[in-house]
Amino acid sequence: MYPNLISRMTAVVVILAILVASCGGTATQATTSSKLAVGIVLPTKEEARWLQDEARFRDALTAAGYDVEILFSQGSSAKEKENVESLIAKGNKVLIICPQEGTAAAAAVEEARRAGIKVISYDRLITNSDAVDYYVTFDSLAVGKAQAQYLVGKASGTANPLYLYAGATSDSNAFLYFEGAWGVLQPKIADGTLVIKNSSEAVALQGRSTLSREEMSRIMGQITTNWDVNTAKTLAQANLAAVSAADKGNVFLLAPNDGTARAIADTFAADQQVTAYVVTGQDAEKASIQYILDGKQSMTVLKDVRTLVADAIEASVAYLEGRTPPQTSTYHNGKIEVPARPSAVISVDRTNVKQVVIDSGYWPASDFTGLP
Ligand code: BGC
Repeated sequence: MYPNLISRMTAVVVILAILVASCGGTATQATTSSKLAVGIVLPTKEEARWLQDEARFRDALTAAGYDVEILFSQGSSAKEKENVESLIAKGNKVLIICPQEGTAAAAAVEEARRAGIKVISYDRLITNSDAVDYYVTFDSLAVGKAQAQYLVGKASGTANPLYLYAGATSDSNAFLYFEGAWGVLQPKIADGTLVIKNSSEAVALQGRSTLSREEMSRIMGQITTNWDVNTAKTLAQANLAAVSAADKGNVFLLAPNDGTARAIADTFAADQQVTAYVVTGQDAEKASIQYILDGKQSMTVLKDVRTLVADAIEASVAYLEGRTPPQTSTYHNGKIEVPARPSAVISVDRTNVKQVVIDSGYWPASDFTGLP
């Protein structure tokens, strides 16, 4: 994983240097910072996940001597469209965009396409549009699988209470996370190890090892956090209020990401009848790494944003040079098969957090207390 990341990042710096040289400069002149004809649009500053991406883009592009414009949509598809239009007006040739909502972004990227811009869907897939050239992503099914494997690995005996939570239904990733998790949890629900406590739709479908999108939608409609910590907290409170003491005790919590994991964990921890909990997450947010060190969150999934950023930059440079970026698979977005390059993810808990998150240079040790 790390040699792979280093080689991808090195390739990006070398390619950027060649680009500068071919534009009449030299690689060393790049350090004076010139403008790359690439615009970046990210969903919101309100979630640490997207601030990670912003910082990693700035690190990578500054190291290569480039200045780039990064705009945030602040949770609004209308603002997102304005952002795209302003980047079109500035003459960008490539758009790297993580949509706030997959389908709502279609109109904006179609406008970019009409202006001759290459569109790279970043982390989240833009759906129901043919104006998507490329998708850089993590293996989202693997994220859900890793979360569920963690829960299953900690559950012994029978009748362990299981509470399910999901991401926003406007985000195709949320379906992949849930699908990956369901495939691992379902056999353990079927054999009685785990018992679903907070979704009648999931209970109705618990005999089924695979679910259609429509079936997942029915379940997710009951357990969605909408990727929002307050929604997650309110839902967890409502779930706890609706069950008896026998449904609590030592509980298993499928939380879709770190922000919602901390909200759900805090809510369960505050319930006197909850004696212990295992809770999942993803994103390796600093606050969740500290929660893991403090024993308040059980695990997270590291999706090394440096890899995603390197892939997005490499793809942008390929387009600027008239080449096609490397493709290892495709994702159907409801209209077309989008060429993609998914990256691997790593399951992290107390036992490997130092090695995977600190020793790898992902976050500095000085940002945490209680490291092993
Ligand atoms: C991303 C996650 C993130 C979530 C909420 C998903 O599309 O893949 O990393 O936690 O959105 O922003």
